[in-house]
Amino acid sequence: MGGATEMQSQDHVARNREAWERMAADYVEAGHASWASDEVTWGIFSVPETQIRMLPNDLAGMDTVELGCGTGYVSAWLARRGARPVGIDNSPAQLETARRFQREFGLEFPLHLGDAERTPFADESFDFAISEYGAAIWCDPYRWILEAARILRPGGRLSFLGNSVLLMLCSQADDEDAPVTEKLERPLFGMHRFSWGDGAVEFHIPHGEMIRLLRDSGFEIEDLVEVQIPEGATTTYPFVTPEWARRWPAEEVWKARKR
Ligand SMILES: C[S@@+](CC[C@H](N)C(=O)[O-])C[C@H]1O[C@@H](n2cnc3c(N)ncnc32)[C@H](O)[C@@H]1O
Repeated sequence: MGGATEMQSQDHVARNREAWERMAADYVEAGHASWASDEVTWGIFSVPETQIRMLPNDLAGMDTVELGCGTGYVSAWLARRGARPVGIDNSPAQLETARRFQREFGLEFPLHLGDAERTPFADESFDFAISEYGAAIWCDPYRWILEAARILRPGGRLSFLGNSVLLMLCSQADDEDAPVTEKLERPLFGMHRFSWGDGAVEFHIPHGEMIRLLRDSGFEIEDLVEVQIPEGATTTYPFVTPEWARRWPAEEVWKARKR
């Protein structure tokens, strides 16, 4: 890979750290509510776990890792179900919030400052890896999925949730807050890196590419859930309406198992 392209392909980690240092304060209240609740729900419409089943049935005794853990509430839910969670996140401010909540709720587990594309963990350290809008959208899949495969034990499971491919195709260029339309606003072919006006960078790839990437990284795919929100569900995010998300999947969940 040439120098300029290589630099461009690496700079998202620094850019996303800057963006999350700015955004962290906006995530304290929602993070606190999720720590305080024992009901597991997912994504921007709070879809119940019973509908999409991100988690293994029995977490007791499992070593788990949350890739891009933010304020850490997912790992707190895992801990309360008997797992031994570890979180990693790229933003010191997000981890500071997570540590404050750990003290408040009396639930401590290891939190690492670092890049989910290059973690400090040994090979085959975990039984389950999860990301809800963490590495799932902020890391380059061609890096973080290989890293997840490295740190999972054979038979270990990976679940991740983020914006759906369809939603990204209907999103208007360069403004992450503009509501998605009912038109294909962007090409599918070549989709990978999305740069926003605030400097943040996200990644979304077509389903066929994700299937090949997961398989080539050593995973068997167990499911792809195109999430339909329950009737009456709402969101505080401006970029998609409940009406849209009742008709099309605003979010998708991938579940895979390491061979
Ligand atoms: C939306 S939060 C995810 C946490 C939580 N599930 C949620 O939805 O609020 C996204 C997190 O991804 C983290 N992140 C972004 N790039 C990352 C990277 N390269 N490695 C680890 N974490 C990263 C951010 O710092 C941020 O805390």
